[in-house]
Amino acid sequence: MTHIVVLGSTNMDLVAYVAKAPRRGETVTGREFRTIPGGKGANQAIAAARAGATVSMIGAVGTDAYGPELRSTLEHSGVDTDLLRTIEGPSGTAHIVVDDEGGNAIVVIPGANGTVDHLAPGDEGLIASADALLLQLEIPMPAVVAGARAARAHGVRTVLTPAPVQPLPPELLTATDLLVANEYEAITLTGRTDAVDAAGALLESVPAVVVTLGAAGSLYLARGAEPLAVPAPQVTAVDSTGAGDTFVGALAVALGAERPIREALRWAAAAAALSVQRPGASASMPYRSEIEAQYTS
Ligand code: RIB
Ligand code: NA
Repeated sequence: MTHIVVLGSTNMDLVAYVAKAPRRGETVTGREFRTIPGGKGANQAIAAARAGATVSMIGAVGTDAYGPELRSTLEHSGVDTDLLRTIEGPSGTAHIVVDDEGGNAIVVIPGANGTVDHLAPGDEGLIASADALLLQLEIPMPAVVAGARAARAHGVRTVLTPAPVQPLPPELLTATDLLVANEYEAITLTGRTDAVDAAGALLESVPAVVVTLGAAGSLYLARGAEPLAVPAPQVTAVDSTGAGDTFVGALAVALGAERPIREALRWAAAAAALSVQRPGASASMPYRSEIEAQYTS
């Protein structure tokens, strides 16, 4: 079975569902409030575990009431949390507004994730034993760079999600095998105006790029290969929070199983399409049998 290690964040998502997100200075009445485990790292870990991989999570939760809940949510999906530390203080939280079109706006307060700024004892050994390391940017950059370098040193494939979007240090890019960005991130990172151009520009820094385009599917560019455009199933979104993380987790599992890239991207799109039809991040992530059923339909 594919072994995936995720180095990244765990957050409790505090989600307000509302017809339309408020503007600055405006107060609106929403419909519902939910607390749902999330965090880009934990989301990718849960997505990959449910999609059929053996998954370990490196990161930190706090000593508040959310800490144990975030840990047990990972464990219930089969994610190994031996190297998920508990740090005195609050867990990460994400303050999310989801509108009636399933779109969202998010403020993340790092909490315990902010302490994950280096590799701790055991982390490098675990990374070395993996088939792939999944990275995002909700923990301090020095740890992301150290993780990518450790993976590279041991011949482990690195998959980077550049979110929340920020400038990427060259030492991270040189240790990245696959960059998976959404359209907004790709455009912000490159200053280009459209996804195809942005993907091309990113290819100057990393050997392969996926740009996810929501309902429009995804674009894949790799050095020395023909560009690929892969469609996504057409579904009605109720909450797209964590859809990108679902895509990445499932994609890593498919690539670990050595599926051809076009199939792997379609498989990942099937997983993401399932997740947007249900509320919440981790709570909406599909299991392997559901992905297979959506993929073959
Ligand atoms: O990518 C979605 C995630 O972003 C949410 O679960 C939230 O925790 C924020 O980190
Ligand atoms: Na969802």
